[in-house]
Amino acid sequence: MDGKIILVTGAAGYIGSHTCVELLDAGYRVVALDNLCNSSREALLRVEALSGRAVPFHFADVRDAAALDILFAQHAIDAVIHFAGLKAVGESVDAPLHYFDNNVAGSLCLLNCMRRAGIHHFLFSSSATVYGDPETVPIPEQACTRVTNPYGRSKLMIEEMLADLMRSDAQWVIGVLRYFNPVGAHASGMIGEDPRGIPNNLLPFISQVAAGQRECVAVYGADYPTPDGTGVRDYIHVVDLARGHVAALRRMFASGGGFTVNLGTGRGYSVLQMLRAFEAVSGRSIPFELVARRPGDIGICYADTRLAKELLDWQAGKDIHAMCADHWRWQSMNPRGYSGSVLQGG
Ligand code: NAD
Ligand code: UD1
Repeated sequence: MDGKIILVTGAAGYIGSHTCVELLDAGYRVVALDNLCNSSREALLRVEALSGRAVPFHFADVRDAAALDILFAQHAIDAVIHFAGLKAVGESVDAPLHYFDNNVAGSLCLLNCMRRAGIHHFLFSSSATVYGDPETVPIPEQACTRVTNPYGRSKLMIEEMLADLMRSDAQWVIGVLRYFNPVGAHASGMIGEDPRGIPNNLLPFISQVAAGQRECVAVYGADYPTPDGTGVRDYIHVVDLARGHVAALRRMFASGGGFTVNLGTGRGYSVLQMLRAFEAVSGRSIPFELVARRPGDIGICYADTRLAKELLDWQAGKDIHAMCADHWRWQSMNPRGYSGSVLQGG
């Protein structure tokens, strides 16, 4: 990768911070951009501590064209990995315009600034949410897309915008990665997911119950057509996911051309299986209660991973034991997330 320079937007976030570490380990240089609307500067200080490398940070919004123009003038960026975005489904239903502005208009602004600066390598964070309730599992990339909420629609709109852009100008090399369910944390316990308020996602909730910060896990639905009746998902360790980005970049620089690829493990686990696995690694008993389905949820979702293997020469390597153990280490070492940080002194 000859010291290529990668701009990572949303670099202080959960997936962005882990990807920065893997990029630096792989020999890339990283420039970070984030408006910190859902993250902490501390995450990037820890990325620097973990990798022993400096990461120039731009506190900016991807909708701020002037700030992006300055950044692109200051750094000879070779590619952009675009994580910056809002991701809470429920919030997107309540505030759709906010989501379209941040996610869609933000991506549009970034792409325009890239075009002006002559940068054409772009790797985008999409989501398995674009498949909606799938007809079959495992889900291949060519499955129908059928989004059911503004968050998912914002991802699909960006995917479509990117396809048009590539059709219009062969210089663009664009990778779209559809993530399944990222969980876990860096094995050091230094960086991890730091949700604000009540977590929406399963693993952060389970780990807060294990830590005694919340009383009980509400298991949403025990009447799905799955072996134990609870929802099945393709949980993927965030470090595997981060390495998928390194593999995708390698492919983009080596071969050019665009692609849309699933990043998952290809295996599904139920809510109760995750809960039991977490109990085993934490040694804590995790109280739970079976409640009604969560509106908008689907029963089963897991990835067909063959294209990722074929195209990117990448596959996930970490099992649910590692996912839960690493999540628990992060939780135990950082009970208040980054806000209780020693490095930050706060
Ligand atoms: P995150 O909230 O931890 O990280 C997103 C980062 O982007 C945050 O640091 C936030 O401050 C920043 N940001 C948001 N809007 C911005 C803006 N306008 N300008 C600059 N910075 C901005 O989320 P994450 O879990 O790391 O997700 C990263 C990306 O992956 C998102 O685009 C998300 O939609 C996508 N994704 C996440 C999941 C998941 O389960 N975590 C699944 C599928 C896709
Ligand atoms: C959610 C989002 C989806 C996003 C994905 C990854 C919704 C409706 N969907 O999906 O768009 O791409 O996260 O970020 O929010 N569960 C419980 N109790 C809980 C939390 C979750 O039983 O407190 C169950 C859910 O019903 C599901 C599984 O755990 O079966 C995983 O839930 P979650 O982590 O929220 O992910 P998704 O539902 O896949």
